Amino acid sequence: MTMSEDVIKEGIASLAKEIACRRTFAIISHPDAGKTTLTEKLLLYGGAIHMAGSVKAKRDQRQATSDWMEMERQRGISVTSSVMQFSYGGCQINLLDTPGHQDFSEDTYRTLVAADSAVMLLDNRKGVEERTRQLFSVCKRRRIPIFTFVNKCDRIGANPLTLLDDIEADLGIVCVPMTWPIVGPTGFVGVYDRRHGMVNLFTGAGDHGASRSAVRSVPLDSSEVRGAVGVVEYDKLCAEIELLDAAVPPFSEESMLAGEMSPMYFGSAISNFGVESFLGDFLRLAPPPTSRQSTKGTVNPDSSEFTGFVFKIQANMDPKHRDRIAFLRICSGTFTVGESVLHVRTGKQIKLSAPQQFMAQERVGIEKAWPGDVIGVLDRGSLRIGDTLSAAGPLEFQDIPRFPPERFARVVPKDPLRRKQLDTGLRELTEEGAAQVFYEDSAIGPAPIVGAVGLLQFDVLQFRLEREYGAPCRFDYISHRYPRWVLGPRSRVIQEAAKRGCMLLYDTKGTPIYLFDDSWKLRSTLQNVNDLVFHEVAP
Ligand code: G4P
Repeated sequence: MTMSEDVIKEGIASLAKEIACRRTFAIISHPDAGKTTLTEKLLLYGGAIHMAGSVKAKRDQRQATSDWMEMERQRGISVTSSVMQFSYGGCQINLLDTPGHQDFSEDTYRTLVAADSAVMLLDNRKGVEERTRQLFSVCKRRRIPIFTFVNKCDRIGANPLTLLDDIEADLGIVCVPMTWPIVGPTGFVGVYDRRHGMVNLFTGAGDHGASRSAVRSVPLDSSEVRGAVGVVEYDKLCAEIELLDAAVPPFSEESMLAGEMSPMYFGSAISNFGVESFLGDFLRLAPPPTSRQSTKGTVNPDSSEFTGFVFKIQANMDPKHRDRIAFLRICSGTFTVGESVLHVRTGKQIKLSAPQQFMAQERVGIEKAWPGDVIGVLDRGSLRIGDTLSAAGPLEFQDIPRFPPERFARVVPKDPLRRKQLDTGLRELTEEGAAQVFYEDSAIGPAPIVGAVGLLQFDVLQFRLEREYGAPCRFDYISHRYPRWVLGPRSRVIQEAAKRGCMLLYDTKGTPIYLFDDSWKLRSTLQNVNDLVFHEVAP
């Protein structure tokens, strides 16, 4: 074997090793289910932070340095989604943060495209809630494995058997409890690990979950378990376990990988109970980066050529520098700083500058990154969401989902002399993908209308237009909220809009869209107008 063959072989082996240890996932949940708390505990167990409470502290610190973040602080929410990388048990974890507050944006949905698996976090009293349902449907469409973690078991919640039935009925996925909660007279004392047939009894560290909790693994029929739960509860527990064994199908890794079966865990993020064993199981079962479909066929992660796609762009992350960061999910090969790659949409070779990774919300410069990793690269306005970057020729990844806006508002400038700044701000901020701009005339006219998935986006836009672009404005909401892009002869599009009493707008590419004020009018139009073609998102 020649020297260069040796080097190539070594490179392939190290790429395979890097891929095998990567886990890239997101937590999907409804606000208040405990996502921030669980994230913090995962970072705690991963050694990325030493004391729980740091994520919030960091958040406060960051907010103190940025006016925009001030809004997050006032509202007690996190507007920006980010990614955190840490290592645990020999795995490199990329945890994608999906904002889960009441008003979220397309960004939240799109982040899931970068994930290889998801953890669905549920409140043990509330089960499946609206946001969980919406995010779950995106994961299901992508057929990625979904792990269920039922949180807050330290307080009395719904009967776990009822919860199990409800989740299955609501989401159409088979849930297989891997652990089962054990409640004694003192509350949540542990979980039964069905796979090993052992009971994990928890002992808090006495610091309200700030550090890891101790776990003792004992057999189900041990006197310790009977002592911890009491006779009545012990018999009930045994009956439940028997019922589960009879009624729940056996866990199948294959069905899990196909997104058809969800392994289910019970725990309490706040007291750390069940978190470490969940994390251990999750890392063992969750898939490393797998192949993805492109316009030129399947791209395998272990292909030696680098490929990746942009799933998120965020401008002005650091208000002092007015920078724009494109978040790139690596799909194959090794990313090496300074290498040129093909920007497929423009056909140009570009050098990705200042690549960074995000460790527990700190940015660090990097030299290399591998499939599954998410890196931030400095962008001067040339990258767009969905763009593919490739060292493997002109292929494109196409599974970036788009979602129709749900609310629309007219932008009213407060200072007509700042119109140019307003237009620049609208263009740049909407390129981030959190909102879309429309005009009432096919030529870019005086009255822009903004459409967004979540209401909060309007506040964010308004705030940022004023602070970052010096373009103060007001948003007047309009009652029309059901959009359809329309293709057909221009005169027919105009005639039909007038007949149906819907608003006719144009997007930035000049494609007409109809806005309906009620869903009945929308349905009737779709059923009765056959010579025009309607699209839910921009064609
Ligand atoms: P989110 O990011 O999903 O919105 O939820 P977050 O972690 O902020 O948690 C929402 C609330 O639920 C918090 O209470 C948090 O302490 C609580 N919580 C999280 N995990 C558990 C758990 O395992 N058990 C119990 N009992 N509560 C949990 P809060 O009162 O809103 O805030 P805080 O004052 O505790 O910070």
